[in-house]
Amino acid sequence: MKSTLSLLSLSLSTLPLAHAGTTLWSGLFNETFTVENFDKWSWSSQIPPYQWYIHGTESTSHYLSLSDTFKNPNSTLVGDEQGLKTTLDNTSSWNGQSMMRTELIPQVESGAGVDIGSGKLYYHFSLAVNEEGFPNEDIEHQVAFFESHFTELKYGGSSDVSSNLTWYANSAAQWGTELVAGEWYNFAYGIDFDNGGVELYASTGAEELELVVDAVEASAQSNGQDWHVGVLRLDNGVDGGEEAWYWGGVYVEEGDVSLEV
Ligand SMILES: *[C@@H]1O[C@H](CO)[C@@H](O)[C@H](O)[C@H]1NC(C)=O
Ligand SMILES: *[C@@H]1O[C@H](CO)[C@@H](O)[C@H](O)[C@H]1NC(C)=O
Ligand SMILES: *[C@@H]1O[C@H](CO)[C@@H](O)[C@H](O)[C@H]1NC(C)=O
Ligand SMILES: *[C@@H]1O[C@H](CO)[C@@H](O)[C@H](O)[C@H]1NC(C)=O
Repeated sequence: MKSTLSLLSLSLSTLPLAHAGTTLWSGLFNETFTVENFDKWSWSSQIPPYQWYIHGTESTSHYLSLSDTFKNPNSTLVGDEQGLKTTLDNTSSWNGQSMMRTELIPQVESGAGVDIGSGKLYYHFSLAVNEEGFPNEDIEHQVAFFESHFTELKYGGSSDVSSNLTWYANSAAQWGTELVAGEWYNFAYGIDFDNGGVELYASTGAEELELVVDAVEASAQSNGQDWHVGVLRLDNGVDGGEEAWYWGGVYVEEGDVSLEV
């Protein structure tokens, strides 16, 4: 009895406030997470939480850095102790491609039976940019996209309003908001993999997530390792300059959606 009680109080105290669903995969950066951890992942050693192979030729620390000053200061998630700064510059060509890319991919625990590509799931993330390293508005960016692009954010270039961060589902612009330096944008893609739909939850700063776009029909699919947490910029021969994008609160939830950020 005593051990049951202490176990209960432990698990209650470590649960995030008002966390509604069950976390299937967590890409939060806790206080012990270091940049060296990203390099421990390889195809022959697939350790969670991230695959790290889509990047340029410089060392990992050129593209990724972690700090408690890089996260949404209003995050209430337990374990969301650091934020990730991703750098994109003219060295960020992967595999000789003419686009620049700095992207992480979720890695689930192998053999644990975790499937982040079926059912109704919520893909949570928060992002920000600053004055320094503000993204180049002239060039299209694809952000937080799945391989088949059934849901993604876009910024710049050919996107509907180039100064907006715009949500696309099924290749059509559905919603947008002006991308402002220093503002934290919180999102959740509500993805129905079984019935083919995706909805958007969004907020800024400390605000709770709100459903901003009802389910849009889309060919929602994932092999569980094709969500790109990061940015792809279509330089195609021009030098788009150096950019920094900040990330935090990245996790995949099943059940009821948590609106608290
Ligand atoms: C911190 O995060 C790492 C990587 O996700 C995880 O392996 C570790 O268990 C976490 N530590 C704590 C104290 O939660
Ligand atoms: C959000 O974070 C800022 C910066 O730390 C802080 O000043 C503000 O009080 C926070 N707002 C809420 C609602 O927690
Ligand atoms: C662009 O952002 C503004 C400001 O948030 C918003 O009112 C507008 O609807 C957005 N436009 C598009 C096409 O996303
Ligand atoms: C890449 O960027 C660096 C730093 O801004 C600059 O010195 C260099 O000329 C650029 N290289 C190319 C090929 O554009």
